[in-house]
Amino acid sequence: MKVIHRVTKCTVIALMLGVFVVLWHPLKSLSQSSQSQSAGKSFAPAMEWRPTHAPANAKYLGNQVCAECHTQTETQHSTPMGKALEAVAESGILKANPKLSFKSGNYLYSITRQGNQSVYAVTDGTETLSAPILYSFGQGKAGQTYVLELRGKYYESRVSFYNEITGLDYTLGAPREPAKSLLEAFGRAMDSLDTKDCFSCHATAAVSERQLQLDKLTPGITCEGCHGGGENHVALMKSKSERTTRGSGEMAILNPGHFDTEGMTQFCGSCHRTWAQVQLMKEARGVVNVRFQPYRIFGSKCYDFDDKRISCTACHNPHEEMKQEATFYDAKCIACHRKPEVAVTTKTYATCKAGKTRKCVSCHMPEYEIPGAHHKFTDHWIRIVTPGEAYPN
Ligand code: HEC
Ligand code: HEC
Ligand code: HEC
Ligand code: HEC
Ligand code: HEC
Ligand code: HEC
Ligand code: HEC
Repeated sequence: MKVIHRVTKCTVIALMLGVFVVLWHPLKSLSQSSQSQSAGKSFAPAMEWRPTHAPANAKYLGNQVCAECHTQTETQHSTPMGKALEAVAESGILKANPKLSFKSGNYLYSITRQGNQSVYAVTDGTETLSAPILYSFGQGKAGQTYVLELRGKYYESRVSFYNEITGLDYTLGAPREPAKSLLEAFGRAMDSLDTKDCFSCHATAAVSERQLQLDKLTPGITCEGCHGGGENHVALMKSKSERTTRGSGEMAILNPGHFDTEGMTQFCGSCHRTWAQVQLMKEARGVVNVRFQPYRIFGSKCYDFDDKRISCTACHNPHEEMKQEATFYDAKCIACHRKPEVAVTTKTYATCKAGKTRKCVSCHMPEYEIPGAHHKFTDHWIRIVTPGEAYPN
C-alpha cells in the first residue's frame, strides 16, 4: 500500500473529481448504512458532502436522547467541535466581553452587548452600518468570527475575536488594509454556496437537500452531526425483539469506526479538508495550509491507507477534549516505531536515537503560526525536521 500511496496521488484526485462529477451521493448509502456495509471499507464522499447535511425528512432527536444510553454525551458537548457554533444569547465570549472595539484606518468597529444580543457596528465617523450578530463561529483559539445579516444578505465579519489578545483583529483571510467603502469595511458578502458550507461545517442540520435551513439547525456538531439522524437506531435499540431478529450487526446508524484509515481521513476531512479539497483551494499554498490536518498527514511517510495506527482516531477521540500533553502521543508513535527487540507480530519500523527522550511530537510534528491567526497549529506532516528547512508543501 505504501508504494501505491506514493504513486497514486494524481489518480486519487482524478478519481475524486470523477466521483464529484457524476454526483455520486454517499448519503444514500450512509443513511441506510450498517456495520456490514461499511466494515473495513474506504469512503470517498463527493466534494460537497458533510456528515451534518440532513437527508429529506430526517428526524434529529438531540444529544439528550443519546445520553440515555451512551456516556460519550457527558464530554462531547463541551468540546470545541460541540461548540463550533453558538447562538449569541449563549456565546461565552460575547457575554464575557460586553464592549469590544477595533480601529482600521478611518473605520471604527464595535461589538456591544445589549441584553441577550450583541450588536456589530462599523462607522467612518459620519455613517454607520450595524446589525445584531446572528451566530458566533468558533471558540477563539484561532479566532471567533461573526455571521451577520444586512439587507437580506449574509456577511462574514471583517474583524474577529482572538483569545490570545482578548480582543478584535482582522478576520483570518480578510484584507489587512483599510476598506475602500463602509460596506466593504462591514464584512465579506457571502454567496449562497459559501453560506451553506460555512454553516454545515460548524452546525448540525443547517443544510438539507442543498438548501440552507437556519430555522432547523442545531448549533455545533452534535452526536447526529457525525452519526446522522438517530431515529431508526433508537427505535431499534428500544425494541429488543426486533434487535434479536435483525442480528447484532444491524445498528441502523453510521459508525465511522468501521471505515479504514483513508476512509476516516476522508470523513474528518469533509470538514478539516482533504488532500483533494486543498488542491482546489488556490489560497491554500504555503504555511496557511498547516490547519488542514488530513491534507498534511497525507504527505507523511507514516501515513498508510490501511493502517489503523495512523488513523485520525488513533490520536484523537472526537467525543473528548483533545489531549495537549506531548507525552500522550508517544504511545501512538511507538505503536509503529519500536526497537527491533520488542517487535511483535504487527509491522513495526525503526526509531531514532533521539527518540529515547520521548515527546516524539515535539520534534517531528512542529508547530507553525499562521500569520494573523494568533495561534499555532501542529503540522501533521510527520517527518525529520531539518533546521532552517523551507515549509514542505
Ligand atoms: C435505548 C438505548 C440507546 C439510545 C437512546 C441510543 N443508542 Fe446508540 N447504541 C445502543 C446500543 C445498545 C448499541 C450497541 C452497543 C454499543 O456499541 O454501545 C448502540 C450503538 C451505537 C453506535 C455504534 C453502532 C455500530 O455500528 O457499531 C453508535 C454510533 C450509536 N449507538 C450512536 C447513537 C446516537 C448518535 C444516539 C442518539 C441519537 C444513540 N446512539 C442513542 C443503544 C442506544
Ligand atoms: C462537521 C464538520 C466536522 C467534522 C466531520 C469533524 N470536525 Fe473536527 N472540528 C470541526 C470544527 C468546525 C472545529 C473547530 C471548532 C472550534 O474551535 O470552534 C473542529 C475542531 C477539531 C479539533 C480541535 C479541538 C481543539 O481542542 O482545538 C480536533 C482535534 C478535531 N476537530 C478532530 C476531528 C476528528 C478526529 C474528526 C473525525 C473523526 C473530526 N474532527 C471531524 C469540524 C468538524
Ligand atoms: C469545510 C468546512 C469549513 C467551512 C466551510 C468553514 N469552516 Fe470554520 N473551521 C473548520 C474547521 C475544521 C476548523 C478547525 C480547524 C481550524 O481552526 O482551522 C474551523 C475553524 C474556524 C474558526 C476558528 C475556531 C477557533 O476556535 O479558533 C473560525 C472563527 C471559523 N472556523 C469560522 C468560520 C466561518 C465564519 C466560516 C464561513 C464563512 C467557516 N468557518 C467556514 C471548518 C470549516
Ligand atoms: C466529530 C464527529 C463525531 C461526533 C460529534 C460524535 N461522534 Fe461518535 N464516533 C465518531 C467516530 C469517528 C467514531 C469511531 C471511533 C473509532 O472507532 O475509532 C465514533 C464512535 C461512536 C460510538 C461507537 C462506540 C465507540 O466508541 O467506538 C458510539 C456509541 C458513539 N460514537 C456515540 C456518540 C454520541 C452519543 C455522540 C454525541 C455525544 C457522538 N458519538 C458524537 C465520531 C463522532
Ligand atoms: C500520530 C498522532 C496524530 C494523528 C494520527 C492525527 N493527529 Fe491531529 N494532532 C496530533 C497532535 C500531537 C496535535 C497537537 C495537540 C496539542 O495541541 O498539543 C494534534 C492537533 C490536531 C488539531 C488541532 C489543531 C492543530 O493543528 O494543532 C486538529 C484539528 C487535529 N489534530 C485533527 C486531526 C485529524 C483530522 C487527523 C486525521 C487526518 C489527525 N489530527 C491525525 C496528533 C495526531
Ligand atoms: C502506522 C504506523 C506509523 C505510525 C503510527 C507512525 N509512524 Fe512514523 N513512519 C512509519 C513508516 C512506515 C515510516 C517510513 C519508514 C521507512 O521509510 O523506512 C515512518 C517514518 C517516520 C519518520 C522518518 C520520516 C522521514 O521523513 O524520513 C519519522 C521522523 C517518523 N516516522 C516519526 C513518527 C512519529 C513522531 C510518530 C508519532 C507522532 C509516528 N512516526 C507515527 C509508520 C508510522
Ligand atoms: C529531540 C528531538 C527528537 C525527539 C524527541 C524524537 N526525535 Fe526522532 N529524530 C530526531 C532527529 C534529529 C532525527 C534524524 C537523525 C536521527 O536519525 O537520529 C530523528 C529521526 C527519527 C526517525 C527516522 C529514523 C531512521 O533511521 O530513518 C524516526 C522513525 C524517529 N525519529 C521517530 C521518533 C520517535 C518514535 C520518537 C519518540 C519516541 C522520536 N523520534 C523522538 C529528533 C527527535
